Amino acid sequence: MIYDSQYNRLALLGTSVHGVSLFDTTLRDGEQAPGIALSAEDKMKIASALNDLGVSIIEVGFAASGDTERDMIKKIAQMNLSSTVCSLARSVKGDIDAVIDCDIGYVHTFLATSDIHLKYKLKMTREEVKAKAVDAIEYARSHGLKVQFSCEDATRTDIDFLKEMHIAAQDAGAGTINVPDTVGVIYPTAMTYLISELMKVTKVPMAVHCHNDMGLAVANSLAAVAAGAKQVHVCVNGLGERTGNAALEEIALGLYANFGVEVADLSRIGDVSKMVSRITGYPIPYNKPIVGRNAFAHESGIHVHGVLNNAATYEAFRPELVGVDRHIVLGKHSGAHSVKDRLNALKVKFPEDKIPELLAKIKELAVGGKEIDDAELMVIADHILWKRGDDDPVKLKEFAVFTGKGVTATATVAVEIDGSVRTSSNTGIGPVDASIKAIRCAVNDKITLEEYKLNAITGGSDSICEVTVVIKGAYDLSRLSVGKAVGLDIVATSVDATMEAINRDYIRGKGERNG
Ligand code: KIV
Ligand code: ZN
Repeated sequence: MIYDSQYNRLALLGTSVHGVSLFDTTLRDGEQAPGIALSAEDKMKIASALNDLGVSIIEVGFAASGDTERDMIKKIAQMNLSSTVCSLARSVKGDIDAVIDCDIGYVHTFLATSDIHLKYKLKMTREEVKAKAVDAIEYARSHGLKVQFSCEDATRTDIDFLKEMHIAAQDAGAGTINVPDTVGVIYPTAMTYLISELMKVTKVPMAVHCHNDMGLAVANSLAAVAAGAKQVHVCVNGLGERTGNAALEEIALGLYANFGVEVADLSRIGDVSKMVSRITGYPIPYNKPIVGRNAFAHESGIHVHGVLNNAATYEAFRPELVGVDRHIVLGKHSGAHSVKDRLNALKVKFPEDKIPELLAKIKELAVGGKEIDDAELMVIADHILWKRGDDDPVKLKEFAVFTGKGVTATATVAVEIDGSVRTSSNTGIGPVDASIKAIRCAVNDKITLEEYKLNAITGGSDSICEVTVVIKGAYDLSRLSVGKAVGLDIVATSVDATMEAINRDYIRGKGERNG
């Protein structure tokens, strides 16, 4: 389900888009991103996932780059995928021979056409470039390969020369001609103009290959499609040279949302994105459209309230459309609706009148942007229900601990009991031990620590911890008293749990004395 803007429909009235397909270059342009080096096995796994996703062409590598690359391409070719397997090649015979050697039927060959590239890189004239491109295409065709040809840096190429190149390439046998925005400089309406101009002379289908240097790769690709391009080059998670290529997931959704064209099995997108992130080691940015952790995360009270009433209020489309989950985040901006929703989802019965206290504790713990997950919420809720009021007869007035490596942990506390303040310092084998000893000394040196339990709820280094302390002998030498606390800091939470146990013991002892 897409929650469209009515203005899209107005603007796109009369634009008919059909026969569009994806050319995925995650395994070629994507792999060119710094730090990515994929093994044959990695590439085979990704190729299989892209095949299941339904992409039309998979550019799996650059055959001329060596034997290992060729062996990998051969292995993928032997997988008999439904997607067409393609290799990149420069416009030279040696590169095309390397592709022929891989037993695949499709080559993507390219040559730069902009004056900048001709002058500073190729040191060739336009005529020489055209002749070289034509030779390469004809050579590949004569060996039975299907050819997609790219004028590298097309968006900075003189329009008349670009048209000449397109005519020459299609006459030489290229079945598709790609228009690369190699350094990501074009603007969407300029792309519309460029494709419309090229459509006047290009009889074969055109593809578009947009880089994201100005953050416009997806917008430019969609503009190209609206203007008549039939294929979009994409990389999963927007990988690719420098700032990457148009992201597969954004293009697939953009084509579906704006033109009703389904170029891939959208429901697999979330899984494919995670898989590519895992294999490449490139994390998915939290705020990445479609697949980022925040794409369907709602924290602020107003948004959660809206989404819980009707997801259309703050979502562009349903997360299940692209195989990802919505999650309501509990944190600094949460409101009562979010907390109740999470408790309901977890089937935790929690009294309405204690929700404000629970919310206040969540906000206190959500320092530095920390999110409270379900396990942590259950512990906090449990703690609120278990806790007494704030009427502590034994009050912790001051607490400091000095610790480090190679130093003896030392804690100093001041407690107030019945109006009189007592202080004590103590050392211990660590800050928790020193703190609990100092409290025991300040309150009553007969107290014994019977049990101490620390539980980090999520296992992360920023996890909320739950400390349970069992003591004996604060005021009653024969009975055990339990104290529990939840917090972010192990030492402070241990101190809170110890104070809670002491207060429980004190209150019970006092009650019994009075009774
Ligand atoms: O960005 C580019 O121009 C390329 C070509 C090889 C098409 O990746
Ligand atoms: Zn590229």
